[in-house]
Amino acid sequence: MLVTQQKTLRRFWYALMPMSMLDDGPRPFTLLGENIVVWKGADGRPAALRDRCCHRTAKLSKGFVENGNIVCGYHGWTYDCSGACVRIPQHPDNRIPAGAKVQSFHCQEKYGYVWVALDDPLQPIPDFPEDGDPAYRRILQFYEKWHTSPLRMMENSFDNSHFSFVHKSNFGMIDRPEPSKYEFRPHEWGFEAETHVPIRNPEASHRVTGTTEPVTERHLVNRWFLPFSRRFGCMYPASGRHHIIYNCATPIDDKSMMLVQWLYRNDSEESCSTQELIDWDRPITDEDRDILEATDYDACIDTRRRVEYHMESDKPGLLMRRMLLELFERHGETEAFLPARETL
Ligand code: FES
Ligand code: CO
Repeated sequence: MLVTQQKTLRRFWYALMPMSMLDDGPRPFTLLGENIVVWKGADGRPAALRDRCCHRTAKLSKGFVENGNIVCGYHGWTYDCSGACVRIPQHPDNRIPAGAKVQSFHCQEKYGYVWVALDDPLQPIPDFPEDGDPAYRRILQFYEKWHTSPLRMMENSFDNSHFSFVHKSNFGMIDRPEPSKYEFRPHEWGFEAETHVPIRNPEASHRVTGTTEPVTERHLVNRWFLPFSRRFGCMYPASGRHHIIYNCATPIDDKSMMLVQWLYRNDSEESCSTQELIDWDRPITDEDRDILEATDYDACIDTRRRVEYHMESDKPGLLMRRMLLELFERHGETEAFLPARETL
């Protein structure tokens, strides 16, 4: 699947960046191959436009914000949040040319992030019930570009077969490679998958897991939201600690994605600090990134094309591929792929 070619993907919300990144002015972002500029308007709400001035095509992200509008850094043409040109400083008394505007995109703040949809969204931003619940604190964990496909990142996060190998020096148990099975609950927005996974719990993990036993259990209630968001709903029954991660694997272009990751914990800063939680998930995330960047970036969703072989524990990923293919077909699309990868 080449994400920039699948028009239906433009009709979903993606987390672009933490709102705090807009404190110093406008920011560029490439979403599904589309160059956009994001900034904070006068009411504090974010706005998104195509990153191209309609005067001499300069990137608006090189400009600055003034009274909630964005000012082009080249000659100062000024645009409001709808993309309309509202000022040409050299000729304040002349009429602004009809049609002098820049394309705008759906944009809103949620969960402390800027979310953008390029075309009319098919679904609202996924519901993350922990957000705003006083039992939880929210921690922005990671924001980094990965050279892989968002679908592979999603699949990997539901793949119980990789722990024993990719995370063998961490929580994975190389001598117990048999994956735990999920119970699936399909939804119109994706699916929920529940399971129990045993993990190694060395001393370095005790403050995160809240327990000291050498092997402990994770009770996972994970969710996948079409197309590239997910919940890692991890609970440690031995301690009652919740470690709930949300990711948006925001598609940049056909070869890369932005890993946007935040965490909800139901314990206190004293029991396990923000920095400890970031430091603990850092090597695990790096291990996933390292192996995912070593795969083909154009993950195939139409499994009738024999590009990859599968095993039983690939079921969550196969379900994602099928739901994506069905979604595209409902909207009159087929899968776009590199001809060279048509067959094995
Ligand atoms: Fe933007 Fe001239 S290119 S004002
Ligand atoms: Co992993």
